[in-house]
Amino acid sequence: MSIRFDESTKAFTLETKTGCYQMKVDELGYLQHLYYGPKVGQTNMSYAFRTYDHGFSGNPYDMRLNRAYSLDSMAQEYTSFGVGDFRVTSIRASFADGSRCAEFRYESHEILDGKYAIPGLPSVYDNGEEVHTLVVTLKDIAANIKIKLYYGVFAEQDIITRAAEIFNSGSDIVWLRKASSMCLELPFGKWDMMHFHGRHCMERQPERVPLFHGIHTIVSGRGMSSHQHNPFVIVCDREATEDAGACYGVMLMYSGNHKTEIERDQFEGVRIVTGISDDRFRWELKPGASFHTPEVILTCANGLTQLSHNYHRLIRHNVVRGTYKLSHRPVLINNWEATYFDITEEKILSIAEKAKELGIELFVLDDGWFKNRNDDNAGLGDWIPDTNKLPNGLGGLIKKINALGLRFGLWIEPEMVNEDSDLYRAHPDWAMRAPNRAPMMSRNQLVLDLSRQEVLDYLYETIAGLLEKYNITYIKWDFNRSISDVYSHSFPSPRQGEVAHRYYLNLYKLYDMLTKRFPHVLFEGCAGGGGRFDAGMLAYSPQIWCSDNTDPISRLKIQYGTSFAYPACTVCAHVSASPNHQTGRKTPLSTRGVVAMSGSFGYELDLSLLTDEDCAEIKEQVKRYKELEPIVHDGKLYRLSQTGDSTHYYSWEYVSADQNRAVLNIVVTNPLANSAPVHVRLKGLLPDAVYRINDEFECNGSALMIGGYTFPRLTGDYPAMQVDIIRIDR
Ligand code: DGJ
Repeated sequence: MSIRFDESTKAFTLETKTGCYQMKVDELGYLQHLYYGPKVGQTNMSYAFRTYDHGFSGNPYDMRLNRAYSLDSMAQEYTSFGVGDFRVTSIRASFADGSRCAEFRYESHEILDGKYAIPGLPSVYDNGEEVHTLVVTLKDIAANIKIKLYYGVFAEQDIITRAAEIFNSGSDIVWLRKASSMCLELPFGKWDMMHFHGRHCMERQPERVPLFHGIHTIVSGRGMSSHQHNPFVIVCDREATEDAGACYGVMLMYSGNHKTEIERDQFEGVRIVTGISDDRFRWELKPGASFHTPEVILTCANGLTQLSHNYHRLIRHNVVRGTYKLSHRPVLINNWEATYFDITEEKILSIAEKAKELGIELFVLDDGWFKNRNDDNAGLGDWIPDTNKLPNGLGGLIKKINALGLRFGLWIEPEMVNEDSDLYRAHPDWAMRAPNRAPMMSRNQLVLDLSRQEVLDYLYETIAGLLEKYNITYIKWDFNRSISDVYSHSFPSPRQGEVAHRYYLNLYKLYDMLTKRFPHVLFEGCAGGGGRFDAGMLAYSPQIWCSDNTDPISRLKIQYGTSFAYPACTVCAHVSASPNHQTGRKTPLSTRGVVAMSGSFGYELDLSLLTDEDCAEIKEQVKRYKELEPIVHDGKLYRLSQTGDSTHYYSWEYVSADQNRAVLNIVVTNPLANSAPVHVRLKGLLPDAVYRINDEFECNGSALMIGGYTFPRLTGDYPAMQVDIIRIDR
């Protein structure tokens, strides 16, 4: 059993393969956090805490004579508010009498087999492996609210999930103003924070900074998890490297507005609070009602590589679901960068014919296929094929594509509407906009108010209608603007603070209904590239378009940042044209292939315009991707260098799950004259096994891991190389 409760000390211990999490109910009933870190045997970690009299840190009434006992300096599991803990709080609420304070004390707990689920929200699931759940119930007597803290312990995976449920056990309405998923404390140590910021076309750029005194806030109020701040942070020991050092991952499984606050306080303690953003959040909690927070996925690992491995394995096996979870992902051709809105049946078929010749398996018809969609100013909302572009209708085109031996995928952007659309003309109140105010436009489109039941019904019927009518096995689901002017005509004014979250509850419901009804359809998530790349979306779409930037050199950095949290199988990566449409950079086809093969692979260029030589190379790339996919998707990633200005190359390696095969990659990002030989030490091989290296030489794993490998001199425009490492002593 991975969860223990010691009745005599009132301490809970949650144990994973290498880690341990401890908390205890103290003499006043507060749930104190004791420890999260590598295993410490049976030790009760209370011994590590001594409390001092801290002057301005006040004392609970029952402890008024013990000035060293203060909530303001105590490590806690979910914090009180308004009662003397002045650090970032996990929850805030206001009550019928106008008061805004509550303190939560232990009431009961339960230890359950299996993993809890969260009503209405995606969460990590178990596959029947050893997983246990701890539920601790806390209560504030005066305010009459209870909080259930959920802990899911995935022992083998070294993962602990957390979520909270806030229950109004009184007879008056409670207004929730903040409802975080968890509080995690690191009372001792010197820490850095890594977060993943960015912008459209440059998502998830890693940044590592020492935690200063004060509050670091990673936030999105854009109505999406966002290009700007991914809902994932790492707090690591200042000395931590890829290979060693305490590293804590905090991943919020949510796709809407989020906030992570990391406070380094006056006594050097670090508190991490994460959850739905409280900016503009206000939730009416009626008597007898519960509010469920999104889930947080925590891991504690020795080194950043191990931390990534923990997330990669969990996301592949316990987050992603459905037919495509572990299976081969079809190599696809997407027409977006080949045609943009300029679609004709003839053009599409010319690309599709070539694609089939080259071994590609699926054709994705992107934006522009529906009525009135000749640019991005009109048409969203009316999902009716444009017969000017497709004279034989969508069905006719799909038949021809299927006849070539290709499967068919379709782009949609269901959450949006253009004012110039029949949908908007019929239901102007279905679009989000504040009363008496011209809405902020973005890509000249508005967001549908998915918090409304009618909008949910309409979207379900429309998408299900397309999937019923046509032979579609792939949907690329786009979302091309942030949500502003948040307002729903279906909620009264005091409840407008619920709309942004209700939007996501209905989006998840929509996805859930569609994926259950059409299990053979593979969904690709997308939001102007990777603006909604998060564990919430991955519960429904096994892969996500990583970025609208397809330049392989930019992509290296984007995919590098993405790799800290998300496995390669979730990263849609395509070979596009050179010069690249976003950056104008020219790169060799081989380099574009090497970079895109570190994901779920495809093409996005006009294949019908390529030379015979390029076509022959693409045929080889497709074959090679199919051979490498099991290593890349099921194996382990090792980042052997960093990307960025301080290095002139990026090198990374995948090792197959059985360690019998590895593929070593390099891309020279800044070719140097007369450079020193580029040398890397491989990782993750079997030390005593003998490997053949690119048909060049043979040696054992330890030689490659200690002595390393020196690349030949690579010159020219952004050259790349893959090295095959294949075990031969079996
Ligand atoms: C943004 C996506 O990220 C692109 O790949 C493409 O689908 C366009 N939208 C289409 O409008």
